[in-house]
Formats: sequence, C-alpha cells, structure tokens
Amino acid sequence: MQRIPEPELMTAHEQVDAYADADFSSGDSRTVALIEQLLDETGPLPKDPLIVDLGCGPGNITIRLAELLPNAQVIGIDGSEPMLAVAKRRSIRTSNNLKFIRLQLHEIEVELKDLADLVVSNSLLHHLKKPDLLWSVTQSIAKPGCRVLHRDLRRPTSLAEVHRLQQQHLPKAPSVLIQDFTASLVAAYTTDEVDQQLRRAEMKCAKAWSEDDRYLVVSGLVG
Ligand SMILES: C[S@@+](CC[C@H](N)C(=O)[O-])C[C@H]1O[C@@H](n2cnc3c(N)ncnc32)[C@H](O)[C@@H]1O
Repeated sequence: MQRIPEPELMTAHEQVDAYADADFSSGDSRTVALIEQLLDETGPLPKDPLIVDLGCGPGNITIRLAELLPNAQVIGIDGSEPMLAVAKRRSIRTSNNLKFIRLQLHEIEVELKDLADLVVSNSLLHHLKKPDLLWSVTQSIAKPGCRVLHRDLRRPTSLAEVHRLQQQHLPKAPSVLIQDFTASLVAAYTTDEVDQQLRRAEMKCAKAWSEDDRYLVVSGLVG
C-alpha cells in the first residue's frame, strides 16, 4: 500500500485533547520496557546522563523516564505548543530532572550537538516527510556510544488491514482519535523502508524489527 503522509505537528486543540486523554499506557509501558532491555544489553548509562525524547507530545514517555532514572536529565522536545502545554501541566509533580523544549526536529541539531546519552522517540517517525532527518538528528545529538530506541507504527499492506487493525485495537474512541490512528497507519513506514533509512544513515549498530501486528522498533547504539 502506498504511503499517504499526514501533517507533521499535532497542533489542533481537538486533536491534542483527544490524544492526551487517550489511554496509551500499555504501548508506553512496552516502549519503556524496550529501553530498559536495551540498557540491560548495552550496560548502564554514564553518571548523570542526558536523555532526549523526540516528538514527546504530552510527555507520556518523557515523564516515565524522568521518574525511572532520577539521576538523568530528561528533555522532551516537540514542535507543538499545545502538546507541550499538556506535558508541562502533567509533569508538575515530577522531580526537577525534566524539561520540555519547543523545537522542530530540523532545529535540534545545533542546540544539543554531541550531548545525548540516550535518544528515544515514540510514534514520531510516521509524521516525518523526510524520515532521514530522524536519523541524522539522532546521530548529531548523540555522544559516542549513545543508545537509541525509536518505536512507531508500521504501514500495513492494504486498507482492509488498516480497517481490521482499527476495529481490533480502537473499536470505540472519539472519531478524531480513530481518524488519527488510521491516518497514522497509512502514513507509517514499513520495516524494510526503515531498514533502508538506517543503511543510508550508516547506523550500523542499530537494527529495525517488526513487533506484533502493527509496530516497528529501532534499537541499538550510535556508532
Ligand atoms: C503521535 S505524537 C507522539 C507523542 C509521544 N511521543 C507519545 O508517545 O505519546 C507525535 C508528536 O510528534 C510531534 N512532531 C511531529 N513532527 C515533528 C517535528 N518535525 N518536529 C517536532 N515535533 C514533531 C507532534 O507534534 C506530536 O506531538
């Protein structure tokens, strides 16, 4: 099935509210579990590490990481002000090892060059018109030996499969959220496409794989 892009930033208030109110806890837990697994496999992060969550949205993953790793400085970055407003509101009680910055992906390289020990994203890649940007930004903000974990939807092979996944995983939800989910599946990249992106970026120490019926994961090291 051909990819149909969707807008990059999520700024419409109705869309932001529906996204922020949705329960993504099981997917978020899975992303955090994959990050913990990566750290188990590659060894602990250095002392006082910097963790960057790209396309952090309302802070689902950012806040969990700040709580899980209290010695880390965690930065959530998103280009959408309404998303960051939700993230900031939600994190009021999180310890002060967390901050949110409004930046678009193409603006990040200069700000954080060579500083990150762990770069993560959840559900960002499918928004990007130029997916190679995610890999160049990841490499550019990474310190040597930086860990990376990016998780996203992957594109099904047909519209019938998109419909089946929506019926199975989101049968009842506000219509704006159902539209978002189906548009995101159609805009997502396939695991083969992501594999090619990693090759173009020469990220030889990271690998892409398919997970269950609708996700893909990129995990490894920048090096
Ligand atoms: C589907 S949400 C995911 C939010 C969060 N990571 C989560 O797991 O719930 C994607 C987020 O990426 C942001 N985004 C998309 N393209 C971006 C870009 N080029 N620069 C910065 N943020 C971007 C959107 O504004 C949105 O908040």
